[in-house]
Amino acid sequence: FDVSWDAAAAEKGGWPSFMAKEVAEQPDAVANTIRGRVQGDQVVIPELDGLDELFIGIDRVIITACGTASYAALVGKYAIEQWARVPVDVELAHEFRYRDPVIGDKTLVISISQSGETMDTLMAVKYARERGARTLSVCNTQGATIPRESDAVVYTHAGPEVAVASTKAFSAQITALLLLGLHMGRVRGSLSDSAASDVAELQALPEKIAQVLAEEQEHVAQLAGWMADTRSVLFLGRHVGYPIALEGALKLKEISYIHAEGFAAGELKHGPIALIEPGQPVFVIVPSPRHSALVHSKVVSNIQEIRARGARVIVIAEEGDAAVLPFADEVIRIPLTGAMFEPVLAVVPLQIFAMALATAKGLDVDQPRNLAKSVTVE
Ligand code: G6P
Repeated sequence: FDVSWDAAAAEKGGWPSFMAKEVAEQPDAVANTIRGRVQGDQVVIPELDGLDELFIGIDRVIITACGTASYAALVGKYAIEQWARVPVDVELAHEFRYRDPVIGDKTLVISISQSGETMDTLMAVKYARERGARTLSVCNTQGATIPRESDAVVYTHAGPEVAVASTKAFSAQITALLLLGLHMGRVRGSLSDSAASDVAELQALPEKIAQVLAEEQEHVAQLAGWMADTRSVLFLGRHVGYPIALEGALKLKEISYIHAEGFAAGELKHGPIALIEPGQPVFVIVPSPRHSALVHSKVVSNIQEIRARGARVIVIAEEGDAAVLPFADEVIRIPLTGAMFEPVLAVVPLQIFAMALATAKGLDVDQPRNLAKSVTVE
């Protein structure tokens, strides 16, 4: 009598890997992070009740994190500056703590960590506190060390993330920072008249992520299959697409061991364009023309420049954006959303791409070589 029981396979619930499961769980991760934090057409984060004076009194925000969380931080910078009108800097935790930053009691240091145990991030929080800054943590693990060491915490509710490469924690981190930006903006009285439509966009995100998964999964996986022999992939983005270019490159490095780099599209002519030779695959995250015709046209002209030099251009653009069609080898579509929300949709095809490429190369996507899920040593 033999019962074959594979506990790990059972936990994956039918998915080929934890990463595949976690990518698919993103609509829930985002919905659970939003739940209980919207009242009417406003964002109210109950855990931050009583901190209004703090949010009004600060004159500077520093967001600190490592790895994927630091790219969520970059999106957070755009959102918090736009909505709360307070200057935001993003600093890698291991850089922040080894210099002498100008911080004080009007500085809010926000840390972002899925595990809540990353040593460098923890030490950055302690360092900021010792120098009199106020601290707020965005964390996915209840009761972890970093939230315990912080004055306040906004939990992401992505659920446990097992795969080493972060996916659903990342979209939940961005969501938490969008919530925080809207919460701080409301408290500081700096939101514009369009804030209610931003809140509506936020609430529509889970459904739109599900749409990207349903409509683009197969297309992107097929693309990755064709590119299994690729040796290098570049990623370009502008505005909030820039951190997504960085994250797309990181995912590929982490799990498929392919050389990948993300750039701000505007930097192209300051160096990266020298890398373009015939056949070089380049992903370009195209911002919606509805938000800024100027920014959109800049990215389209970047696409023309690389295409003219023979790049194989894979574009991620919103539905109906026809301006990209003449210059793209492949077009991946995302639904229409607000400017700050595009990263949560645009990252999904890049996660699928990295996963499918690693799978095509026969690699273990959940346990990439040399990497740990949580780096608890210095
Ligand atoms: C490690 C993981 C990454 C993660 C980073 C920060 O490098 O492999 O996926 O982004 O740590 O982890 P944290 O738990 O602080 O978000």
